[in-house]
Amino acid sequence: MEVITKINEMQTRVLSVRDRKKSIGFVPTMGALHDGHISLIRSAREENDELVVSIYLNPTQFDNSDDFDKYPRQLNKDIEIIRKENADVIFTPCTEEMYPDGFCTHVTQDKLTDALCGGVRPGHFNGVTTIVTKLFNIIDPDRAYFGQKDYQQSAIIKRLVADMNMDVDIRVCPTVREEDGLALSSRNKRLSLEDRKDALCIHGSLQKAGAMFASNVRDAKDIVEEMTSVIKKTKQARIDYISIVNADTLEDLSFINGRALAAVAVWIGNTRLIDNTILE
Ligand code: PAJ
Repeated sequence: MEVITKINEMQTRVLSVRDRKKSIGFVPTMGALHDGHISLIRSAREENDELVVSIYLNPTQFDNSDDFDKYPRQLNKDIEIIRKENADVIFTPCTEEMYPDGFCTHVTQDKLTDALCGGVRPGHFNGVTTIVTKLFNIIDPDRAYFGQKDYQQSAIIKRLVADMNMDVDIRVCPTVREEDGLALSSRNKRLSLEDRKDALCIHGSLQKAGAMFASNVRDAKDIVEEMTSVIKKTKQARIDYISIVNADTLEDLSFINGRALAAVAVWIGNTRLIDNTILE
């Protein structure tokens, strides 16, 4: 396995893979890897000849400098995890490489970026669409893998590749959870023991939504109200948003009459966690 830090070296490697007519699978990450990332890496390993995993903590997608500073960093451990999964390349560029002096071009998207996290994290998704475009241009993957845990992000990336005619197949993999239901997240590493218990209210609220939907409740307001009361039982949890949206357009729904998404963002202490479930 090769660890590449320079864009031109990565591009040279991609050209040689293309010369050999091999397919490239790509898993973009910000590091602090857990089993959620590993599930994407395994799917990509299975479906492609060459597997590239990137580790890059992208500063432009952090709307809060404290969140960026506190984001867990464990590059050497991550490299070992990826090595065990038989990747061919880890691409881990530095910020001078990705955003050199004079950098002033950004990729922005309307509509899908206004909803959910876009409403409360200004600029976040522009950072994501910009860095993912750059990574796709450098790595030129046949398939790229994203997690349903960040449902809005995967919807935005699907739209990005369709709108910009990028020849990349976007694969969305299911959310990996702890046994008690908490969605794995790099930010879980920041939770104290007490926070960890409190964080369960997030999954609890989504289960409530699923159960109400299964018993034929279709009024979004009723479901949001019940989800809110599940989370409010945990005193330390602060709701950022609880929304029921159309799963394709991400527009708020008052009545569910097609595929819908229940999405939640909650602060547990100083850590903001998100999760979602599809209602269909
Ligand atoms: P990061 O948060 O490291 O996540 C990398 C990928 O892992 C994303 O596609 C995310 O949805 C997926 N993932 C995270 N937790 C998961 C879980 N519990 N189950 C399944 N998949 C999970 O998302 C980013 O990085 C960045 O925005 C990035 C796309 C790399 C651009 O900087």
